[in-house]
Amino acid sequence: MTDIAHQRLLIIDFGSQVTQLIARRLRELNVYCEIHPFQNVTAAFLADFAPMAVILSGGPASVIDEGSPRPPEEVFTLGVPILGICYGQQVMMQMLGGKVERGHGTAEFGRAYVTPHDAKLPLLDGWFQSGPEQVWMSHGDHVSAIAPGFNVYGTSPNAPSAIVADTGRNFFAVQFHPEVHHTPNGKTLYENFVRLAGFDGDWTMGAYREQAIAAIREQVGDAKVICALSGGVDSSVAAVLIHEAIGEQLTCVYVDHGLMREGESEQVVGMFREHYNLPLIHADESELFLGELDGVSDPETKRKIIGKLFIDVFEKHAKAMGGAEFLAQGTLYPDVIESVSFSGGPSVTIKSHHNVGGLPEKMGMKLVEPLRELFKDEVRALGRELGLPDSFIGRHPFPGPGLAIRCPGEITREKLDILRRADAVYIDQIRKHGLYDEIWQAFVAILPVRTVGVMGDGRTYDFACALRAVTSVDGMTADYYPFSHEFLGETATRIINEVPGINRVTYDITSKPPGTIEWE
Ligand code: XMP
Repeated sequence: MTDIAHQRLLIIDFGSQVTQLIARRLRELNVYCEIHPFQNVTAAFLADFAPMAVILSGGPASVIDEGSPRPPEEVFTLGVPILGICYGQQVMMQMLGGKVERGHGTAEFGRAYVTPHDAKLPLLDGWFQSGPEQVWMSHGDHVSAIAPGFNVYGTSPNAPSAIVADTGRNFFAVQFHPEVHHTPNGKTLYENFVRLAGFDGDWTMGAYREQAIAAIREQVGDAKVICALSGGVDSSVAAVLIHEAIGEQLTCVYVDHGLMREGESEQVVGMFREHYNLPLIHADESELFLGELDGVSDPETKRKIIGKLFIDVFEKHAKAMGGAEFLAQGTLYPDVIESVSFSGGPSVTIKSHHNVGGLPEKMGMKLVEPLRELFKDEVRALGRELGLPDSFIGRHPFPGPGLAIRCPGEITREKLDILRRADAVYIDQIRKHGLYDEIWQAFVAILPVRTVGVMGDGRTYDFACALRAVTSVDGMTADYYPFSHEFLGETATRIINEVPGINRVTYDITSKPPGTIEWE
């Protein structure tokens, strides 16, 4: 916990898959909150944390089972508002003198509708304005007897106590999940809760920045940190933030594998050196990478070669600068799966996906991951807060292996040069037509096929290329972007006229699944 004077809300986590969404809803309301696994929340912890309100999250356990998780009793005597959600509701009812029973046809999973019951409740201001409210349920057990002092304020067909409250103590409990998208009016409920608890909304991205900087300083002390800076949004924001925290203790290594886009290395290195005065090693290792990739056409072999060389090169440069105790990474919340371990003591089981595959394990370094609580749009907001230009923050994702996986078959310098030119023209077209921000990712793939054409009365025998543009929310699924025929025609003409070596342009209209976004 960082010692920063903000109004704080405590979320006690019982292991729900969506606990992070509660934090997200609260941060949207400029309320500072921390999530702590229930095992860590003792009476002493509560006294030290001094929350202005507490939320008890959902979770997979059943309160009926022996040894199922509980918050400390003291949470109910803090004198602050409490909101219990799903398991949080059940545990509240059970501990305060009510009763919870198992299923018997009362389980509910998915969409349900809650109707009002009894008098008005300030927590529900703005609810039920046009009839029942849609909510998202996910429960097997249900509350069969509410605790003394509580009343029912909303019911659903399978949850007669869908919303209960003890207005004297400002204790509220709901069976559904107001934090998820499928409870469309859920945000209002959080808004009302934090208003009732007296929060002023003093938590902003500026405040997050300060808190993150303090936390980095505390973690790192006067040790050295290195960071693999790819120029992507995540590693860039992480690097700038860490640099602000510890200055020259941070060194970034930009590994140029010769598979970057037109002008990209110069842009990235130039921006960080000139505008941020960030210690940055530009490791131009294109000869090494392209040499090792020579004659290789299998996609997995390409990826493995690039991954291994990346680690070797990074290690070499890290050693040359005298080593470092910490490795910085721009890991985001969606890359991190956290779950509360019920039997394994107070530890939180964390699995991380490392973008620079295998690097931390191989190098035995400690990690600094200042973005691991943030979602992508929050990282972008933090980047803006740190003064990174909008054009940079809104950039489409670019994969670690770079153009290697947009060049099916053997990679040659000639093909890479053609691909860079074609890609630059395509992206220029997209920007000119004002479409860049509507598209998740757009790029050209150069195909391992030569086709016959006719230009200026002469025969050509050049490469074909494919344009790719997709819409997506998270890169897990995607659909092709519906360009107009005019746009496609104009772009094909420009590429063929402006890029020697290409005489045919196709548009890839495969969704994901069954295709992937990249070609390899
Ligand atoms: P696919 O092609 O699998 O890609 O649909 C989904 C998203 O991930 C990106 N991608 C990568 N990013 N290292 C990365 O950092 C990689 O090896 C890698 N492979 C794919 C891809 O560009 C898309 O945004």
